Amino acid sequence: TTPSDVKWLGTPISELKRMPECGASLPPLKDDHDRHTVMIRTDLLQKGKVPVSFPTRFRDAWDDVHVKMPCSSHNLFPVENEVRAQNAILNYSASNAKKKDFTALHLYCTKVNNVVINYCHFFNPIPLLKAGMNHSITMSQEQVACLLANAFFCTFPPRNSRKTEYSNYPDINFFRLFEGSSAKKFEKLKTLMCYFKSVTQQMPTGLVTFTRKRLDKPPNWKSSQTPLTKLHITCEGTIEDDGYGMLQVDFANRFVGGGVIGSGLVQEEIRFLINPELIVSRLFTEALDHNECLIITGTQKYSKYTGYGQTYQWSGSHEDITPSDGWQRRCTEIVAIDALQFRSFLDQFRPDRLDRELNKAYCGFARPEEKRQNLAAVATGNWGCGVFGGDTRLKALLQMLAAAEAGRDVAYFTFGDSQLMTDVHNMHSFLTQKNISVYDLLGQYYSSVCKSCHGRRPDVSLYSFIYQQVSSSLAPDDSNMGSARQ
Ligand code: AR6
Repeated sequence: TTPSDVKWLGTPISELKRMPECGASLPPLKDDHDRHTVMIRTDLLQKGKVPVSFPTRFRDAWDDVHVKMPCSSHNLFPVENEVRAQNAILNYSASNAKKKDFTALHLYCTKVNNVVINYCHFFNPIPLLKAGMNHSITMSQEQVACLLANAFFCTFPPRNSRKTEYSNYPDINFFRLFEGSSAKKFEKLKTLMCYFKSVTQQMPTGLVTFTRKRLDKPPNWKSSQTPLTKLHITCEGTIEDDGYGMLQVDFANRFVGGGVIGSGLVQEEIRFLINPELIVSRLFTEALDHNECLIITGTQKYSKYTGYGQTYQWSGSHEDITPSDGWQRRCTEIVAIDALQFRSFLDQFRPDRLDRELNKAYCGFARPEEKRQNLAAVATGNWGCGVFGGDTRLKALLQMLAAAEAGRDVAYFTFGDSQLMTDVHNMHSFLTQKNISVYDLLGQYYSSVCKSCHGRRPDVSLYSFIYQQVSSSLAPDDSNMGSARQ
């Protein structure tokens, strides 16, 4: 066991790489029809100036490969929607009116409405990031603000889930945000208002890139001999605060953003609330497939919070001092990877499930086009182990394997769990020192422990099984054998 004053183990966090220091210089930003849609005039891009939209006049497209815009001449619902949204907001205000003063809300609504009206026409058609596509969209924070203001007023043409066209997309209009009068919704609304207040007072001048990525050739996990990379593990801090400049994992839903507009309020939803520009991804990102991820670079943090879930509270505005890269994007790279949800605990140890999670994490972490020395560490934690019911010790191991294969170090935040910190650290040291490839052992664990198990949980824990198997297979004269037992 570890003394209670020990808050981290492994490699000091100062030795892990972060952006922008570790990054290579970027190629010039340019639109490439097949792979990258750039929605601004790159030739006029100037530090500290709001980017100029391209084209400067709205080009209408109403088809099945582009976002259907509120300002399109084909949209039959614009007025009705806005009225409905305003009524929803007013009803919401009225239900809380006895307790709270809503003058500010009305003021913001007027200002946000100006954003809708003033900027809506600065758009090229926005491509949908459909399943299977490898494609990026880069837009200005101003364009994002305009889209979010429209989402707030629920002006996007309805995405009727009974119609097949959008049934595989997250919802974008904020209707569900205004439903009910729970304290949670109120804190969510405060967080989003903080964003709208900030951008209406001073429009941010950066860009944000949304990249949908598909993994075509999964690594051969069975034959891989890749040693584990460095691990910093801590029971204090969070991915978003202490993992600045690293590749930050969003514990996502396959519909990115999960319940951010509805009632969800855990890791992903909180991240989407404090960095609301992430919410725009819901407008064009079709549900993620098993071998896909979404990478979002350049979003800004506007709010601070305390608590988590039921106890979440907005705790004021945040000034984001993250430096920007050569494309005027904040050096905040977030990757949405959705873990599998397990209702039966034993299910997650099945070989096909292990491969799925390894490939999902690898898809999120790997950047084959970059040199290894230019890759920042992965900042992650208990991915898939809250709402989705996964086992932290298994998931930590799978993420370490995926990060190793991708050539990145890992900063792991256990979110207060010091026993987990100790256990994962010990396992990492053990595997590294003995140069063991653990993938086969995972398979053995399933066939010899989980398959025959009658209860809900395995009789032998995964880590004890690994220690046992390795020590019993080592030669009798192995002098380190004692340390293999725990
Ligand atoms: N930094 C580090 N660790 C954290 C943080 C943080 N900021 N926040 C939470 N954790 P969960 P899942 C830890 O349940 O199981 C959403 O609705 C904490 O230990 O959000 O993958 C999505 O939209 C927590 O228990 O992720 C999906 O629908 C654990 O991470 C679904 O939840 C898991 O957080 C995904 O559920």
